[in-house]
Amino acid sequence: MRQSLIAGNWKMNGGREANAALVGRIAGGLAERPGAEVLVCPPAVYLESVARLIQGTAIRLGAQNLSEQEKPGAFTGEIHGAMLSEAGCEYVIVGHSERRALYGDTDAAVARKFKTAQALGLTPILCVGETLEQREQDQTEAVLQRQLGAVLELCGVESLARAVVAYEPVWAIGTGRTATPRQAQAAHAFLRAQVGARDARIAAALRVLYGGSVNAGNAGTLFAEPDVDGGLVGGASLKADEFLAICAAAQAQLPKS
Ligand code: PGA
Repeated sequence: MRQSLIAGNWKMNGGREANAALVGRIAGGLAERPGAEVLVCPPAVYLESVARLIQGTAIRLGAQNLSEQEKPGAFTGEIHGAMLSEAGCEYVIVGHSERRALYGDTDAAVARKFKTAQALGLTPILCVGETLEQREQDQTEAVLQRQLGAVLELCGVESLARAVVAYEPVWAIGTGRTATPRQAQAAHAFLRAQVGARDARIAAALRVLYGGSVNAGNAGTLFAEPDVDGGLVGGASLKADEFLAICAAAQAQLPKS
């Protein structure tokens, strides 16, 4: 059975006061309607303060990135996975398309980050997704296969028993242009089948989130698709009412199998 997960990716947004107000309102709303698993991923510098804010609430904590290094050391500007755990993180996003496009995170580097995250006790949320050009050239499945394949090759299919995958078409991120439920379902089913070809049981239990302009208006129809197990939410995760409505849409879904 797969319980829905809603993860808020704050990206490079927030501030002490804004975080306290946002988390307070989300926690208050969730207390009234428990259900789906809910996660916030603030910028690293705020992890500890947000960890304090969510104590005793249903909200869990994730980071947006980590160093691929398994041991701490002389890596200026990097953050070791154990530091994220110590700050209160259970999850970490790896391979977000903004990191792939802007910060040189290659498939191989993403796979190494995934491996390190697991080695250090964090649950990776592996982001995969095609650009508009790739979709128009009918490359979507090839891109997904390559991005997921890098992790399968380095870490093995068993690693996906302790991970989450997020399908995030690049053309839908921050653009207001969402994949249709049918497009999302097709990509999610493809990803699950890639895992299923190696291990049916792990594939059936794997949560695959959709990300890309999820909002209160479209969340319900996306989450109703049989292989969509929740969302990775960017812009809408910074607005408490919108985020709570998305959580409610996920809560309305029965666990899928
Ligand atoms: P968006 O971002 O919801 O603002 O499109 C999603 C993401 O990048 O994770």
